[in-house]
Amino acid sequence: MAHTILITGSNRGIGLALTRQLLQRGHRVIATCRDLAGATELQQLAAAGSPLLDLQPLDITCPASVQALAAHLTAKYTALDVLVNNAGVLNDGDNRSILTLDFARLTAAFDINVVGTARITQAVWPLLARGNRPRVVNLASGAGLISTKRNSNFFAYSISKAALNMLTRMLEIEGRKQGICVVGVIPGRVQTRMTNMDAPLTAPEVAANLAVTLENLQLTESGAVLDRHGQPCFTGTFPDGTGQPCPVGW
Ligand SMILES: NC(=O)c1ccc[n+]([C@@H]2O[C@H](COP(=O)([O-])OP(=O)(O)OC[C@H]3O[C@@H](n4cnc5c(N)ncnc54)[C@H](OP(=O)(O)O)[C@@H]3O)[C@@H](O)[C@H]2O)c1
Repeated sequence: MAHTILITGSNRGIGLALTRQLLQRGHRVIATCRDLAGATELQQLAAAGSPLLDLQPLDITCPASVQALAAHLTAKYTALDVLVNNAGVLNDGDNRSILTLDFARLTAAFDINVVGTARITQAVWPLLARGNRPRVVNLASGAGLISTKRNSNFFAYSISKAALNMLTRMLEIEGRKQGICVVGVIPGRVQTRMTNMDAPLTAPEVAANLAVTLENLQLTESGAVLDRHGQPCFTGTFPDGTGQPCPVGW
C-alpha cells in the first residue's frame, strides 16, 4: 500500500537514496532540503515528472521554515503516514577531548540533530495522528549508544545522537496514545559526505533496506532502536567496561 512520506535532508546521502527508493516503490514522497535550487539530483527527479514527488524547502533549525512546510502539508494533504528524520550533522573537526571541546560545534550538533528533529516532528505530529499506521523514523547512530561507547571520538555528534535516542523514547510514549510508532534506526556505516565516502555500505543498498523496514514497522516495535533490516540493535543489556551486564542500553 502506498504511503505519504516526509523526508528531511533529501538532497544527498541516505536521504536522497531513500527518496529515490521510496518513489520507485510507489510511495508519495515529500522530499525536503535547505537549498532547493542547488539540489541538482532532486531537481532531476522532479524534471522526470514523477507525480509522486513533492519538493519543498526545509531547514529544521529555522522555525519559520518548519511552519511554512507544515502549512503547505496541511493545505495539500489530509494526513502523513511516515516522517523520516534523516537530516543530521557530524561536524566535530578536532573535538576529541573534554579539555579542548569546541562548544560551538556541540551547540550546532544539538541544534540540528536534536532540537531541529523535535521541531519538525512537533510541527507535523497532528498530520501524523491522522495517518495510516503512522510512523516516525529517526536516523540514529551507533556513536550515540551509551553502553557500547568505548572512545571519545566525535564528542558533539555522539552526545547529540544519544540525546536523539531519548527524544525517540519520549516521543514513543506520547505516540502510543495516538497510535504513532516512533523508532530509531541505525543505518550502518554508509558512503556519504558524512563519512567522506569511507564506509563499507552504499547509500542505495542501505536505502533499499530502510524502505522495507519503514514499510513493515508495527506499533509493537515502537521505542526500539533497530538496525537497517528492522532488527533490534540490543536486547536491553550490554557488557560494561568490566564485562558485567549494564542495563543502560541507549
Ligand atoms: N553515513 C553514515 O554512516 C551514518 C551512520 C549512522 C547514522 N547516520 C545518520 O543518517 C542521517 C543521514 O546521514 P548521511 O550520511 O546521509 O549524511 P550527509 O550526506 O551529510 O547528509 C546530511 C543531510 O542532512 C541535511 N541537513 C543538515 N542540516 C540540516 C538542516 N538544518 N535542515 C535540513 N536538512 C539539514 C543536509 O543538507 P545540506 O546539504 O543542506 O547540508 C543533508 O541533506 C544523519 O542523521 C546521520 O547522522 C549516518
